[in-house]
This record gives sequence, structure tokens and C-alpha cells, in this order.
Amino acid sequence: EIYAMGTLADQPPEIPVRWTALETAAIEAMDDRAAAYVSGGAGSGETVDENRRAFAQWRIVPRLLRDVSERDLSVDVFGRQWDLPLQIAPIGVQSIVHEDGVLATARAAADLDVPICLSSVSSSPIEEITAKLGETPTWFQLYWSSDRSITESFVRRAENTGCNAIVLTVDVPLLGWRERDLEQGYLPMLEGHGIANYTSDPAFCDGLSDSPAENEDAAIQHFLDVFGDPTITWNAVSDLCSMTDLPVVIKGVLHPDDAETAVDHGVDGIVVSNHGGRQVDGELGALEALPRIVERVAGRSAVFFDSGVRSGADALTALALGADAVGIGRPVVYGLALDGADGVRSVLENIRAGLDLTLANTGRTNVADLDRSLLVAR
Ligand code: FNR
Repeated sequence: EIYAMGTLADQPPEIPVRWTALETAAIEAMDDRAAAYVSGGAGSGETVDENRRAFAQWRIVPRLLRDVSERDLSVDVFGRQWDLPLQIAPIGVQSIVHEDGVLATARAAADLDVPICLSSVSSSPIEEITAKLGETPTWFQLYWSSDRSITESFVRRAENTGCNAIVLTVDVPLLGWRERDLEQGYLPMLEGHGIANYTSDPAFCDGLSDSPAENEDAAIQHFLDVFGDPTITWNAVSDLCSMTDLPVVIKGVLHPDDAETAVDHGVDGIVVSNHGGRQVDGELGALEALPRIVERVAGRSAVFFDSGVRSGADALTALALGADAVGIGRPVVYGLALDGADGVRSVLENIRAGLDLTLANTGRTNVADLDRSLLVAR
């Protein structure tokens, strides 16, 4: 389709296909503060780069002359079929890059039936986003609030809106030391981005003397007070498991011992992730952590992966190392910044098509059957 549009209709794609060109174009399109917030990482950004280097440690070895004319990209996740082994990672504050924010991203996800995980700090309330998503597999990402009634209310809202799993993000006891944002003195939430789930929540509003509409400054201050809880321990994971019948996933695991503890506390899934390099500079690349965690978990929970996935070939690599599905973060935000829902759609279509073609060209036909035999360690 892309070749035909470019060659025959003289309309090459508007959204860059190469990751590096996509990032450059999006950074140019965003204002400086949003560009730094989205593209930046913790500290000097070493771990953002390390996430890419971790992929370069693995090389794909194709097999030949096996009928690859029919291919199956679907996977089973918690008893439900996903058409693709991909998910849009939870991304907060999307209104800093596009006025429609996550509602545009949700539209693209629904059009393509690409699974999505919604952030606690999303730019619209969960009820509005899920209304756009229809039957698209949808998870809700939870930041454990210091006000327990808000945590419980968020879980209930995720259940009531038909979400299929709750993802507890555990790698943000406190916000990372993000030097580019610090240099600009910029935190999107202080401008009211990403607080829609809170200001629409009865438990949150109970703690306010005026309604959020009457006093936005007080709402933002209250958000800062309740957003996170650095005191939580593994008990919160057990608590969450008993709070809901939905599958519970914990996101941000890098150490095999933590993966083991998570399984012992009853989680259904683990996301191996370093938050896209946004929390601890100097951390290992997330992909480096994946094989050891897959080995330790040994099938006792699902294992998902994000941080540094930029192409279909990257997704294949993570799947071959044992991920059940793979999350995409910044590429989606860049598509959104460049062209709203259409931009997100282009980015996702490209990753999907790249995955499909690369699968065929490695002599494989089924993503659910991928294993280490696809790869050699460099
Ligand atoms: C994130 N991420 C994130 N994670 C989470 O659990 N809750 C959140 O609200 C957010 N918000 C967020 C905003 C922005 C702008 C970015 C870039 C990332 C982390 C995200 O879910 C995922 O772990 C990383 O983005 C994956 O890395 P890549 O694909 O961006 O390299």
C-alpha cells in the first residue's frame, strides 16, 4: 500500500517510517518542554540509549524455504485472543503533545484493534476513553494512591468500564531525577495535564473543599498530595489481588528475585520494563533483564516487555526471548504529536507490517511459537 501510494500516486507517507526520522520530526513538532518530557529519560539519558543497545546484543538468524504464505500474529493473553502481540504502553499526560490527547490514541487503537493500557494520569477520564475503545483489549494502569479510597475507586472504575486487567506500576516510588525537565522547570501535572481521572473521581473530590472546576489550583495541589505512596511494599500487591477478580500485572520489574516475589504474591503477569529509561539513569537495558526473568518465572505468570521497542523486528526479538506481548511507548506518542489519531494509526500499522514481513522473512509463521532459536547472542 505504501509503495503503491508513493510510486503510483506520488504520495509517499507523511509519517516517517524510520524510528530515527519519526523521533526527529516529532521533536521538531512538539514544543520544547513537551519534547524534553517525552523523549527524555532519567539523569543524562544513558538508560534510554542502553535500552537500544540491549537489542543490539541479539541478532536474528532466519531459516529458509518454509512455506510462509500464511501467518498468524495472534497471541492468547489471560484467556483472550489478541490479534497482535503488541500493546500501547500506558502513557500519561498525552494532552501535552496533542489537544485530543489519549482520546486520539484510543481512536487509532480501536480502528486497528491494537490492545492498549490506559494510564492513571491519562489526559481524559477512563470512562471517556473506554467509550471510544469498544471491544479493543484494554488494561488500566494504577499508581497506588496515598489515599486508599482513591486506589479502590480507580480499581472499581476500571472494572466498571470493562478493563481486562489492572497493571500496578511499581518503579515510581518517586518521580525520577529528570535533568532535561528540571532544566526547564517543567512538570506537566502542575499545568493540570494528566489529572482527569482524579478530578472526575468521587473519592478524590471528597478531599476537596471546592469542586475541581471551581478551584483548579487546589485540585492540582491535592493531586500532588495523593498521587503516589512511597511507603508501599509487597503487601500492596497482595492487597490489590484481593481487591479485584481481574488479572493483576506488575510493571517495572528488572530483578529476577522481584519477579519471583511477585509470583509468590499472586500476580498474573509481570511487565519487564525500566519505564523507558525514565526512572533510574545507569540502569541496565530492559531487554537485558528479560531472559533471566522469563527463566525464573518459568511459566508461573505471564511476562510482558516494554522499553526500547521501535520496530517489528524489535518486537520479534523480545517475543523470541519469552515475552508474551510487547508494549510500545514513545513511537505512539510521536505519531500522536505529528498527526493525532492518523499519526498513531500510521505508526502502529508500520510496526505491525514490519513484524509480519520480518516474521515471514525469518522463516516463521506464528508469533506464539517463537523461541530462542530465532536468535544468536552477539
Ligand atoms: C510513560 N510511561 C508510563 N508508565 C506508566 O506506568 N504510567 C504512566 O503514566 C506513564 N507515562 C509515561 C509518559 C511518557 C511521556 C512516556 C514516554 C512514558 C512509561 C511507559 O509505559 C513505557 O514503560 C515506556 O514508554 C516504554 O519505553 P519506550 O517504548 O518509550 O522506550
